[in-house]
Amino acid sequence: MIGAITALSDSVFFTGVFDPKIRTFDIIMKTANGSSYNSYLVRGSEGVAIMDTVKKEFSEPFFQRVELLCDYEEIKYIVLHHLEPDHSGALVELMGRAPHAKLIISGRAVMMLKGIIKEDIPFEVANTGKTISLGDKTIEFLSTPFLHWPDTMSSYLHEEKILFSGDVFGSHYYDERLFDDEVGDFSYAFKYYYDHIMRPFKQYVLQALKLYRKFDIDIIAPLHGPILRTNPKYYLDKYAQWSSEEKFRKNEFGKKMFSVFYISSYDNTHEMAVKITEGADDIDGVIASMYDLSSLDENTMIDLLEESDAVVIGSPTINGDAVKPAWDLLSCMAFLENGGKVGATFGSYGWTGEAAGMLHDRMRGLKFRLPTEPLKVKLIPTEEDLESCTGFGREVAEIMMGKMVEMEI
Ligand code: FEO
Repeated sequence: MIGAITALSDSVFFTGVFDPKIRTFDIIMKTANGSSYNSYLVRGSEGVAIMDTVKKEFSEPFFQRVELLCDYEEIKYIVLHHLEPDHSGALVELMGRAPHAKLIISGRAVMMLKGIIKEDIPFEVANTGKTISLGDKTIEFLSTPFLHWPDTMSSYLHEEKILFSGDVFGSHYYDERLFDDEVGDFSYAFKYYYDHIMRPFKQYVLQALKLYRKFDIDIIAPLHGPILRTNPKYYLDKYAQWSSEEKFRKNEFGKKMFSVFYISSYDNTHEMAVKITEGADDIDGVIASMYDLSSLDENTMIDLLEESDAVVIGSPTINGDAVKPAWDLLSCMAFLENGGKVGATFGSYGWTGEAAGMLHDRMRGLKFRLPTEPLKVKLIPTEEDLESCTGFGREVAEIMMGKMVEMEI
């Protein structure tokens, strides 16, 4: 049973599906309230456009909704704003059923189409400014790449003032009442979605907002969660605010953030962290701080990483590896723009001492600038070792400040 059809206007209808049971999305996102895969049907005087499809296993209710609203022969266009399988899963079946439909995708989606669909299907490319007509309805396309994949685009239905925003402004939040003024409080899901999907691409968010602000928007129709019709500007402003936030320390004090993250089993790596922090803090223009990874949650790690201009990580070596909290910290970089932060690693060890080198290699893979060799100390640091740690902190901080020539190691 699909329930009643939801109308956004006289000519735009919800053809999406609900997934109340999903608890993890894209491996990394928690979805305590489930989600929806939103799709929309636009009816014009000369045909119908289907805006995105749904995850394959939810095809049946999708097709039921489409069939209640149109004959397949009427479908003139299928628009895929984003090729991820949660939106392209029913595409091939829909193309098979809709004999006159033209597929519209973004320029960046061309290279991905075959990899996702595994079939050769005809398509037309839409970049910013391209329009398609359904007679009395005109849809204009906007390139909004990387939100969430490189292929993502948006579109605007002029006559109804509806922005089809793709994943932008989405929430993983299941509520069949659908409209933002009728569903429960989804504000946490809206922010969580921004943090996990959009935050690494803030510059692209700001570019997209510039395009969106050229239009008079009554309704934002995203690909997940509530449809936003109460005050669309509020959501645009939220995205603008989150994407423009300055690092507060820089802002307030004009200083650079040097963060030492460590974990220690017998206090040796901790002692090194203290001296590295002291060394860095000696340098003008630097605020150095240290954080024990055993007591940081993921959100705090993400916030601290984002604010840091230099990220220095210390771990002992246990069974030939760095310890899990150090890897967890680096896995948080998936949610952030790196932007060429300076990185360095250190650690005390008993036998082989692989940890600092392994973390160094991982940081290189994450595109940190790594101007020093990893700093390793055998077991308990001597006074001389601790002096080396102070010098190490000073050196990395000076490089961060541009006061020393940087060598890539
Ligand atoms: Fe909802 Fe990026 O797919």
